[in-house]
Amino acid sequence: MLKKLITACLFVSVCILVSCSGSTKKTNEENESCIKPIKDPNNPKPMALMMRSMANYCDSMRLEINNGKVVDSIKYPLMPFWTAEPTDSSVLETLFFNNAKQFAAAYRQLMGNTGDQKENYTTVINACIHCHNSYCSGPLKRIRKLTLDYKSE
Ligand code: HEC
Repeated sequence: MLKKLITACLFVSVCILVSCSGSTKKTNEENESCIKPIKDPNNPKPMALMMRSMANYCDSMRLEINNGKVVDSIKYPLMPFWTAEPTDSSVLETLFFNNAKQFAAAYRQLMGNTGDQKENYTTVINACIHCHNSYCSGPLKRIRKLTLDYKSE
């Protein structure tokens, strides 16, 4: 009797565990944003808007660089997102600002050294990924599509 009860309990807890981890994974893949669920996806904060512009910039920079063109900061200015209001103000801590500094340095290097843009662009995307590993993993899937060698099938 007791044995049956224990087995039943174990079975139920395993089911709960499996369904929980399954659903987290799903939201991570489908949701581009950091906050889950998104409080108000139609009213994004300034930092989120700048992130969207940066992702759009990278979409087209990637194509231009792959076609041997040179990108510049007139068409693609550096977005000072670290001065903009975020959705979640708890991100505004030392590690975030250090990551932002690293990103800005990589971006200036890309725009300042027109000879080696493939390598420098890759450093920029790695800086996006580096910060997103700590702060906002939702958009990582989108960011990986911004790499020079990403193939859309
Ligand atoms: C220093 C850290 C940091 C760096 C570097 C960074 N991000 Fe972000 N990113 C964030 C944070 C924090 C948010 C959440 C912003 C918010 O919701 O206000 C975010 C949000 C986003 C979003 C979701 C915006 C939305 O629609 O809600 C995208 C897409 C994104 N980033 C792409 C990028 C790309 C592309 C780069 C590099 C070109 C990049 N990020 C560099 C921290 C960073």
